Amino acid sequence: MTARDIAPATGKLGVLTPGMGAVSSTFIAGVLAARQSGQAPLGSVSQMAHIRLGTREDGRNPLIKDFAPLASLDDIVFGGWDPISANALEAARTCGVLEEKDLAPISAEMEGIVAMDAVFDQKWVSRLDGTRVKVETNMWDQAMALIADIENFRTENGCDRMVMVWCGSTEAFQEPSAVHNTIAAFEAGLKANDDNISPSQIYVYAALQSGVPFANGAPNLSTDLPCMIELAQRNGVPIAGRDFKTGQTLMKTLIAPGLKARMLGLRGWYSTNILGNRDGEVLDAPENFKTKEESKLGVLHKILEPEVYPDLYGNIDHVVRINYYPPRGDNKEGWDAIDIFGWMGYPMQIKIDFLCRDSILAAPIVLDLALFMDLAMRAGESGVQEWLSFYLKAPQAAGDAPAEQDLFIQQSKLKNTLREWMGEEPVTHSEAG
Ligand SMILES: NC(=O)c1ccc[n+]([C@@H]2O[C@H](COP(=O)([O-])OP(=O)(O)OC[C@H]3O[C@@H](n4cnc5c(N)ncnc54)[C@H](O)[C@@H]3O)[C@@H](O)[C@H]2O)c1
Repeated sequence: MTARDIAPATGKLGVLTPGMGAVSSTFIAGVLAARQSGQAPLGSVSQMAHIRLGTREDGRNPLIKDFAPLASLDDIVFGGWDPISANALEAARTCGVLEEKDLAPISAEMEGIVAMDAVFDQKWVSRLDGTRVKVETNMWDQAMALIADIENFRTENGCDRMVMVWCGSTEAFQEPSAVHNTIAAFEAGLKANDDNISPSQIYVYAALQSGVPFANGAPNLSTDLPCMIELAQRNGVPIAGRDFKTGQTLMKTLIAPGLKARMLGLRGWYSTNILGNRDGEVLDAPENFKTKEESKLGVLHKILEPEVYPDLYGNIDHVVRINYYPPRGDNKEGWDAIDIFGWMGYPMQIKIDFLCRDSILAAPIVLDLALFMDLAMRAGESGVQEWLSFYLKAPQAAGDAPAEQDLFIQQSKLKNTLREWMGEEPVTHSEAG
């Protein structure tokens, strides 16, 4: 296999996050702490996972970061926008994910990461009252203002390359409309302040026009619109979406493939969550919860393929609930009651009580998406990066077939894509390999 011609990761990489809340500040803090301590950032596949090359007998098993030419953590510069948080330190203190003892050694650096004024419209996030917002009222002007922010950030920080990862609130549910069909329609819609254009879409437009790859960590529509796919391809920029795969959905994509691999039936899956952070508050609004619900509900169907296995998965009650409960803060509790059946139809039950920390699970995903999107750009990729579906709850497909949801198939896809780009044979795990 011939290796791709991948440009080296020289110079600074600017990582911009629209949204400087719990996930973004926890991500920034973790990278700064890892840089200071020299310890690997836990949970990051790009930094900690090994990748087997060749046959098992070859004994070649480097770290991914030593195998693929990823940007170094030392070369990352952070930036972002937020309508409420003033800077990364304030955001971290407000959301209360990290303890003061962990913030203290990096507090000066965190405070220096000042949020730029956001493109924000309360219509899309009714529970938030943003004050640090751009003065422009026309959407086209807002897009131009974001493009100017990106260019200023690039110059002021001497960035060689940049990537953007949406860590903003989940916007209200919407279906795609005519304004999203083509680049021309979207640009006309920006100029006409079309009601169907949400703020996150204006960030994607600005990023892609600036040659900056964009990954969407929330479930709202943004990169997965025809106009954005067209723009990404036209400008030669990678995109990926949507919704970081953490918490309960991570558990679902671990367990459901296992049940299916052993041909155990599923009758129902009831998932409920309590969380008390700003994300929980936003999701307490029915129009924002609907966006999340759609993203969470699709997972089981795509993994279990009821159309192929009607006897096992043709009759499933799948329910997802999220309740805002302030005492829990970012420390979510997710319960799953899973009703399965086996040999001769006998029912069994599985119960999961996951006391997780949402932002602790999401932060390494932001890092990996940023580093891999930058790699994809340097490898000459453009459009949807389906190989990054490993990180996403409702992964965007690159072609007509739906994206894989099974975490382990997604992991193979990610690693085989890296092998292919670096001129190594894919690992098939067949008897011969
Ligand atoms: N934490 C997880 O495990 C997880 C998993 C999947 C998806 N997500 C999604 O990631 C996003 C961030 O989660 P979080 O816990 O950090 O939430 P958060 O509420 O702490 O942070 C979101 C920030 O986005 C800001 N914001 C809202 N609209 C904006 C705009 N138009 N431009 C710029 N900033 C804007 C808000 O002011 C807020 O500070 C949410 O959409 C959430 O649903 C999180």
